[in-house]
Amino acid sequence: MDSGLKKIVDKIRDESLREKVVQLVENPTIEIEGKVYVGLPLEASPAGMFRHHSYPRGLIDHIVGTSKVALTLCDVIRRVYHGKVDRDLVLSGVILHDILKPLTYEAEENGTYRATPLAERLDHLTLIVSEMVRRGFPLNLIHIVCAHHGGEAGPIWPRTVEALVCHLADVTDSRLNGEVLRAARYLSKEATGEELYRPTSKEAFEIVHSKVVEGWDGVRKAVDRMRQSRLGAC
Ligand SMILES: [Fe+2]
Ligand SMILES: [Fe+2]
Repeated sequence: MDSGLKKIVDKIRDESLREKVVQLVENPTIEIEGKVYVGLPLEASPAGMFRHHSYPRGLIDHIVGTSKVALTLCDVIRRVYHGKVDRDLVLSGVILHDILKPLTYEAEENGTYRATPLAERLDHLTLIVSEMVRRGFPLNLIHIVCAHHGGEAGPIWPRTVEALVCHLADVTDSRLNGEVLRAARYLSKEATGEELYRPTSKEAFEIVHSKVVEGWDGVRKAVDRMRQSRLGAC
């Protein structure tokens, strides 16, 4: 398992729950009509086709980012509001909420992604909820995953504090990443006449930072540097 992801998984204290989560993370597949669907390797999968984390390893970045936001919210609940929250359920929910997304993307030769035939029929949320029911996960954990898009974009509103934490953390990390990627694409196009092709999160944050510190000239220099290093990597 990826070391960044393993560090998050290891924070689940309940041993039997952790073991079930590990099994799904290490074998994120689903069987339908006798056919086993296996997606992109977790380490290669994006977490979105266009809007956020739309690059290889984006899904792991998203899980790690969302976990850190979620754990901070747990601390706020406990230390500021003196409320109760089950961190094991929150962590497990965050780790699993998009774990079957790799089954929904196909990588194209130009580095973009398109939906698989499976994804044209079932969305990642339906897939993971079905698989968690089949594998006998606790109802309160399945609810967290089922409610992670909220009631406007998903089938049900969060009805527990743990589900609300996961939903808010998911929205926060997706939005943070998506807005910065979008800004980087816009800035690179304005500064150089051509959008930097599929920036990583690191490149995107650097471009946005360079605009603040050095203005358009800084953006130009940063984007040129990135293009050069990509050429060098080819
Ligand atoms: Fe999702
Ligand atoms: Fe997500």
